[in-house]
Amino acid sequence: MWSPRLSVGHNGAVAHATSEPLVLGIETSCDETGVGIVLGRTLLADAVASSVEEHARFGGVVPEVASRAHLEAMVPTIERACSTAGVALRDVDAISVTAGPGLAGALLVGVAAAKSLALALEKPLYGVNHLAAHVAVDQLEHGPLPEPCLALLVSGGHSSLLRVADVTSSVEPMGSTIDDAAGEAFDKVARLLGLGFPGGPHIDRAAASGSSVAIDFPRGLTSGRDVERHRFDFSFSGLKTAVARWVQAREASGEPVPVADVAASFQEAVCDVLTRKAIDAALTEGIEDILIGGGVAANSRLRVLAEERASARGIRVRVPRPGLCTDNGAMVAALGAEMVARGRVASALDLPADSSMPVTQVLV
Ligand code: KG4
Ligand code: ZN
Repeated sequence: MWSPRLSVGHNGAVAHATSEPLVLGIETSCDETGVGIVLGRTLLADAVASSVEEHARFGGVVPEVASRAHLEAMVPTIERACSTAGVALRDVDAISVTAGPGLAGALLVGVAAAKSLALALEKPLYGVNHLAAHVAVDQLEHGPLPEPCLALLVSGGHSSLLRVADVTSSVEPMGSTIDDAAGEAFDKVARLLGLGFPGGPHIDRAAASGSSVAIDFPRGLTSGRDVERHRFDFSFSGLKTAVARWVQAREASGEPVPVADVAASFQEAVCDVLTRKAIDAALTEGIEDILIGGGVAANSRLRVLAEERASARGIRVRVPRPGLCTDNGAMVAALGAEMVARGRVASALDLPADSSMPVTQVLV
C-alpha cells in the first residue's frame, strides 16, 4: 500500500501527506488530448480536447494535424482539469503520461509536457503503456481489478486479448489483430456506407433499426486451420472487403443499399468474433473476469452480447462507461496512481516516447 513516504520527488523533496496519491495523467497517443486527475482510485477530473473534427474529412487521423492540436490544447486542458478537480498543480504527488504505443509526434507532445511538469514541480514521473491504462481505468468505476483478469481491448488502433496478472507489472498478450483493428473496421465500413467519422457510433445507431441476421458476413479466423494458428487473434480486413463487395453488388443491381441491415449484420460479425474469442481465452486460462476497454467497448451490441455469453459460462464482465473507454487522461492517471500505490520505481526524466511500445512493457 502507498504511504506518503513514497511520494518523495526525484530531487528528494517530500510531497504533501495524504493516504492516497493525487496523480495527474496526460494522454496524447492519438487525437485526444486528455488530462485526468485521480486521488487513488477516485476520479476527480477528466478533461479531454479532441481534434477528431479536424480529421473527419480525411476519414482517419492525420498525425501532423493531431500533434499540432495537442500542442494547442495541452495547457488549457491541464488548467481545466485542475479547476474541475479543485487542486493546484503543486498539490499533485506524481505525473503520469502515455509513453506509447501511439503516433510518435503526438506522444512526444504529451511526454514533453509531463516532463516539464515533473521537473518544475519536482514530482516523480511515470511513463506508462497506453493499453495497460485502458485496463486500469476500470478501477475508477468498479473498484480494484480482479487478478488475474482477461482484457479485451478494442479501439481504432488496437485489438488485443491480454492476460493481466498485475496491471502495473504483468500484462501478457494472448492474441491481437493480424490486419485491421476492430475500430478501424467500423470506421472503414461506415465510410463505404456514407456514414460519418468516427464510424463506430454511426454504425451502432444505424444498426439499431436493422437486422443482424439479414446478411451472413464472414467471421475471420474462426474456422479450420485458421483456428489452430490464430486461436486468439483477430482479422477484420476480409469482413470489410466482404461488406464492400456486398454493397457494390447491390448498387450495381440498381436496388437501394439497406444501410441499417448492413450495419447490423456487420456489427454482429465483429461482436460475435470478439466475444467468442475473449470467452474462449478466459476459459482456457481459468480466468473468471473479462474486462472490455477501448473505444469499441462503447458499442451497445458488444456490451449486451459479451454479458449474455459470459454469464452463461460463469464469467463476469466489466466495461467502463463509454467516456472512460475512449482515450482520456483519467486512464493514464489511474495507472499512474496504481504505480505509486504499488511502490513502482518512477521513470527517468529522459524517458523516450515509444510509438511501438510493447504491451509487456507497462512502465518505462
Ligand atoms: O479508444 P479510442 O477512442 O481511440 C483509439 O485508440 O483508437 O477508439 C476510437 C475507435 C474508433 O474507431 C471508433 O469508431 C470506435 O472506437 N468506436 C466505436 C463506438 N464508439 C467508438 N465502435 C463501435 N461502436 C461504438 N459505439
Ligand atoms: Zn486507446
